[in-house]
Amino acid sequence: MIKFSAPGKIHLLGEHAVVYGKPALLAAIDLRVTVSITPSPQALASKQKENIKKIIESIVKKTLNIRTIPSYNLTISSQIPIGSGLGSSSAVSSAYIAALLSFLNIKWNLEDVSSLAYEAEKVFHGNPSGADNTTVIFGGILWYRKKTEPVQILSQIKQFVLIDSGKPVESTKEMVEKVRIKLQESRIKVQKIFDDQERLVKELIVALKEGDQNQLVNIIREGERNLESLGVVSKRAQEIIRLVEKVGGAAKISGAGGVKSGSGMLLCYHKNSKALLALAKKNHLPTLSIKAGEKGLLQ
Ligand code: PMV
Repeated sequence: MIKFSAPGKIHLLGEHAVVYGKPALLAAIDLRVTVSITPSPQALASKQKENIKKIIESIVKKTLNIRTIPSYNLTISSQIPIGSGLGSSSAVSSAYIAALLSFLNIKWNLEDVSSLAYEAEKVFHGNPSGADNTTVIFGGILWYRKKTEPVQILSQIKQFVLIDSGKPVESTKEMVEKVRIKLQESRIKVQKIFDDQERLVKELIVALKEGDQNQLVNIIREGERNLESLGVVSKRAQEIIRLVEKVGGAAKISGAGGVKSGSGMLLCYHKNSKALLALAKKNHLPTLSIKAGEKGLLQ
């Protein structure tokens, strides 16, 4: 059996702006997907798995000029909530691609898997920045900008709480399209927001490195305001975020967001994370305590 695992990710800041060439900060988290491949003459798979199989196999075949792939059984087990902005699709694609290349006895490195996973992201999301696949494969806390080498950031702040604002009804593709339309309609305003997110990303690197908790709270709050101005945060999520701010914390969407219903998992920070857990409990909101900066793709 060939087995690989990949982590989920959070966007510390810079989502959406990253699609337009601005930098983003992402981190691999301690929730993982494990993909196993077992050679088998009769491969049975559910419809959902068949779909992933079809996408990944056709990318691998096309890119590496492979005609046929021997039959195998595919197992996917995941700790990452699906469709909540935690990079579940990137993690599945990356671990699956690594397992499939190994099954085919093809030599590969992390860059190879990342560029194939990027092709899969295109099928899932349309116009991805490449930040998700890069983070789940290389791991750690990453400064990512399109067309440049990612940079690992060493950080003293690693503990965050995720509060579930509900699954978005919109796909990442739809949310990216929403922002594209907004940029077309109000170019100066949206460009200003992107510029401000870039400034905040730079300040965030310093705050994380220095373990400056007050500054971290301020930056997340400001970054979230910008995401709200971009129109990617739902009313429900904004209500929860305001509650977090009221008790002295900060929260933001992580990833594409959503407006019609939920906005996915909210990345929350408070000097005393117990305050966040108590707040969530009082409001009957599901939470996850996570560590940021975990390992990327692993065998
Ligand atoms: O919600 P996710 O995990 O699909 O993240 C999307 C992040 C965007 O910046 C909105 C798109 C991208 O490709 O970077």
